[in-house]
Amino acid sequence: MRQLFVAGNWKMHGDKASIKTLVTGLNAQADSVGNVSVAVCPPAVYLDYTKNCLVASNIAVGGQNIAEEPVSGAFTGETSAAMLKDLDCEYVILGHSERRAIYGETDAEIARKVKTALGMGLTPILCVGETLEERESGQLETVISTQLNAVIDEVGIAAFANVVIAYEPVWAIGTGKTASSGQAQEVHAFIRGQLAAKDSAVAEKVIIQYGGSVKPGNAAELFSQPDIDGGLIGGASLNADDFIAICRAAG
Ligand code: G3P
Repeated sequence: MRQLFVAGNWKMHGDKASIKTLVTGLNAQADSVGNVSVAVCPPAVYLDYTKNCLVASNIAVGGQNIAEEPVSGAFTGETSAAMLKDLDCEYVILGHSERRAIYGETDAEIARKVKTALGMGLTPILCVGETLEERESGQLETVISTQLNAVIDEVGIAAFANVVIAYEPVWAIGTGKTASSGQAQEVHAFIRGQLAAKDSAVAEKVIIQYGGSVKPGNAAELFSQPDIDGGLIGGASLNADDFIAICRAAG
C-alpha cells in the first residue's frame, strides 16, 4: 500500500504575516491529519521563515524550483538544490506547467533538474499534464508520455523509486474546473502503466498525486481512486483549514 502524500504549492503567494497565520493554523491541526505524508512548498525566500514557524514535525518543506547546477555558481537569481538541502527541505516541485508555459522550461531541462535534485537527496515532485487543446485533439497520452520519457531517459526508471509524480491537467489549474475522479484516475493509471512497462515494482511504489482545483469538497472522491495517491494543492493550500481538511481526506 502506498502512503498518500499531500503537498501545498504556495506559488508566489504570501508574506511574513500571512505565512505566520497560515503556519500557526497548520501547527494547531497537524495532529489530526492521520496517516498521510504532508509538505508545504513556500516561495524560496520564505523557506527558512516557514521552517522556523513550523512546529508540526509531520509537515515537511519543499522548494518550487531549482537550478540545474547543483551547488553554486554565477547564476543570478537562481536557487540551488544544495541550498534547499541546507534549509532542510525534502522536496522540490519540478516541471510545473507554469514553469513550462511562462518560463519556457523544456522537457530536457526539467529532466536535468530532476537529476540534480536526486543527486542532492531531494525528492522531486515531477509535474506532468496536458492543455485543454491537447486533450481535445487526442494528444493526451502522447503529451504525458513525452514528458515522462524525457525524465526516464535522463535518470533511468529505477530512480523513479525516489520521484513523486503530480498529474496536473493544465485546464484544471486555478480554474475551479477539477478533472472528474474518473478522468483523473484514467490518466493516473496510464502513467503507472507507462512506468510498469519498464519496471513493475517501481510503478507499484511510485506516488502519483493529482493537482488542479482540489478542494475540501472534492478531495475524498479523488483520493479514493486506486491510482491517485494524494494531491498537489495550489489555492486551497493557502488556507490552513482547507489544506488540513484535504490532508484529512487522504489520511
Ligand atoms: O501545483 C498546484 C496547482 O497547480 C494546482 O493549483 O490552485 O488549481 O489547486 P490549484
